[in-house]
Amino acid sequence: MSEKIIFPEGFLWGSAQSAYQVEGNNYNNDWYEFEQIPGAIKNGDKCGESSDHYNLFENDFKLLSSLNQNSLRTGIEWSRLVPEENVVNEDELEHYHKVIESLRKNNLTGFINIYHFTISIWFERKGGFLKTKNLKYFQHYCEVLAKNFPEVDFWNTINEPGVVPLMGYLYGEFPPRKKSILAFSKVYRNMIKAHAIAYRTLKEYNPKSQVGIVKTIPYFYQKYHSKYWKKWIVSAMDFAYNQVMFNALDKGKVPFIPFAHNSLIKDSSDFFGLNYYDPVFFKFKFGIPIETDFKLPEQTETTQMGWGIYPQGLYEDIMRVKREFKGPIYVTENGIATLQDEQRQKFILAHLVEVSRAISEGADVRGFFYWSSLDNWEWAEGFEPRFGLIGIDYTTKERLVRESARMYGKIAKDNAISKQLLDKFELNL
Ligand code: BGC
Repeated sequence: MSEKIIFPEGFLWGSAQSAYQVEGNNYNNDWYEFEQIPGAIKNGDKCGESSDHYNLFENDFKLLSSLNQNSLRTGIEWSRLVPEENVVNEDELEHYHKVIESLRKNNLTGFINIYHFTISIWFERKGGFLKTKNLKYFQHYCEVLAKNFPEVDFWNTINEPGVVPLMGYLYGEFPPRKKSILAFSKVYRNMIKAHAIAYRTLKEYNPKSQVGIVKTIPYFYQKYHSKYWKKWIVSAMDFAYNQVMFNALDKGKVPFIPFAHNSLIKDSSDFFGLNYYDPVFFKFKFGIPIETDFKLPEQTETTQMGWGIYPQGLYEDIMRVKREFKGPIYVTENGIATLQDEQRQKFILAHLVEVSRAISEGADVRGFFYWSSLDNWEWAEGFEPRFGLIGIDYTTKERLVRESARMYGKIAKDNAISKQLLDKFELNL
């Protein structure tokens, strides 16, 4: 028999979004350019007005707050704020001040993201994060933020430092469409450094603000469930993609970054922002992992992204972060793209059960952010995947509150999951 599940007092119940994915009307970054390339985006979609959150943010915050959410992870778009080298756009400064003020008025604790996949065109022309010397421009942006937004309590530095190197520099599916292992490794290292630079800069100006990394930890299934050589190969890949970040924060050491930078990187996160979506399963040919699947071979139920649903992976990930990282943990993204809202409800519940299992085993998890608050621009997949608690009619921009948003709101209000709800979806702690 399942019992009611109670979460720790003061738990943050929120959802997450990123600036570019929801704001709309941004024509000054690498994604805008990328979207013009025929075939780059599924169905030829273009981000365009997206959910028009840039204009409708007050309405959206009110809505999220009325659904009992007490926090929101959202972002500032670098290419709006610093549209040209060393130029700060005063109107955009004012805009984001209004955004942050509106979060406060709506009792939403803001987790403000500094970098979430997009860079301005001028920065891209200089070589973006591929060139270590360009990090000075990122530092300048962080200074602008630190000086102008002392009211922000929580900053997220780099969203998923491994994803853009992987998707943009190794697989060539994101801008700048490179396929080079050397470029992947260089950009990944520079993103870790960029994170540390953001941390030091923000803390220098506002020592009380909480600043942290956000890292996706896909659950590399064969690392834990295979034997011998497959296990070793997958463990090596897990090291390169996941463990590297833990080692960086713990010891300051990153392969091929000179030791002189150890003290910059070591202990550069006040909390760990964990993003978790799915398991990863490698298919081997002649001993080489040739293909990556985001589901287990036996999994038939998948999401619109083709990802398998594996809630235990979230528990395993949290426990891993607990072992590797000394501070508090926030689940900064977890969610599902689906047209069946019941599937979303079950997904949320099943994952929350795992969060609570980890908490009961001593993990200091302080908040959960469902991805995503609103339906939004899903990068190279365009507008098809529906991740939102709140649906968007992209023609009218109408907001449609889904049942899952109400269910999530009820959990947030009670700070607990009722026994009835667990029984309804046949879940147990
Ligand atoms: C990213 C989001 C993205 C989501 C779903 C995360 O890795 O931070 O921007 O929309 O995954 O793919």
